[in-house]
Amino acid sequence: MNGKLLFLGKADIKSLDIHVEEIIKAIEKGFIDISDGNTELPHKPSIHPRPDCFLRALPGYLKGIDLAGIKWVSAYPTNRQKGLPIVSGLILLNDPQTGLPLSLMEGNWITAWRTAAVSAVAAKHLAVKESATLAICGAGVQGKTHLAALSTVLPHLQRVKIFDPDPAALELFLQQEATAYPDLDLQGVPSAQDAFCKAQVVVTAAPMMSKPLAIIREKNLEPGMLLLPVDLDSYFAASAFKACRTFFSDDTDQLLWLKNQGRFAHVEKIAGDYSQLLSGQIKGRQDNNDCIMAISVGIAMGDLVTAGLIYNRARDRNVGVWLDL
Ligand SMILES: NC(=O)c1ccc[n+]([C@@H]2O[C@H](COP(=O)([O-])OP(=O)(O)OC[C@H]3O[C@@H](n4cnc5c(N)ncnc54)[C@H](O)[C@@H]3O)[C@@H](O)[C@H]2O)c1
Repeated sequence: MNGKLLFLGKADIKSLDIHVEEIIKAIEKGFIDISDGNTELPHKPSIHPRPDCFLRALPGYLKGIDLAGIKWVSAYPTNRQKGLPIVSGLILLNDPQTGLPLSLMEGNWITAWRTAAVSAVAAKHLAVKESATLAICGAGVQGKTHLAALSTVLPHLQRVKIFDPDPAALELFLQQEATAYPDLDLQGVPSAQDAFCKAQVVVTAAPMMSKPLAIIREKNLEPGMLLLPVDLDSYFAASAFKACRTFFSDDTDQLLWLKNQGRFAHVEKIAGDYSQLLSGQIKGRQDNNDCIMAISVGIAMGDLVTAGLIYNRARDRNVGVWLDL
């Protein structure tokens, strides 16, 4: 609509019933577009108004679906003590033809689901096929969306072990998710080490701190594990990184940039990124005994394809509020 912008709040977005399978499919296609050179995804500039906190811009243009936009996202681990979300953000879509703003939408729902969908893409291609036990460290937003996304790509999943140092968060997670997944055996466990024990796929989704927690060591890893850290390198000690056979990432350039900044210091054997994996340019898992780490640094493609699904459905269903520019 000329001179207007569609505003979509979280309740609008939730009302559209977009399923995680749709997001996973759109993101898989997005990774193929990246490998075909059909995207423009520049480096993400950040500002750091407080220690351990950042605001970051994730711009992108996806030529295949002609979608342009930007996410402006913050991560403030210190918000936890204030009862506020750690992550917050907005996404702006622009008309690629004119550059004019098309839609502004709440970004947390998108961040929550696109991150889990990217992990699910990695798990689909890198987990041992028969993986039956999933561990989740961090029973927050990412813990929940990862359970939803990973349960769709791990057909043999039976058991989920969850650790969170906050007993209330753990209790709430178990209560809510037990009803949502009656066929899965959900177990709260008292430590991260207990969660890792005998798991085949592990998600770490705790607050990221500038000084890594380094809770998990080589002795806590199992043969054939797929490690999916969404909280950067917070969880793992040097010995755990060294025990990994290969590393993959949603964005190798960004991973290397982070390494230059002093994160992921012990990551050495980077095989490549998911776009190369999905297009067959690089091989995935070679041996069911290899421990593999697939690192999600966060990629604008995931945000934009999800925002595109939302925008199209909101227009079809007349959801949201049109604002004058
Ligand atoms: N890679 C990405 O693209 C991406 C995207 C979004 C969020 N994140 C990161 O994912 C992490 C989780 O985000 P969220 O939105 O789920 O936050 P959240 O606040 O909803 O949940 C975090 C949970 O971690 C728990 N926790 C604290 N210390 C822990 C520990 N040592 N071990 C296990 N759990 C612990 C907290 O009690 C809380 O329940 C954050 O680090 C966030 O920055 C990454």
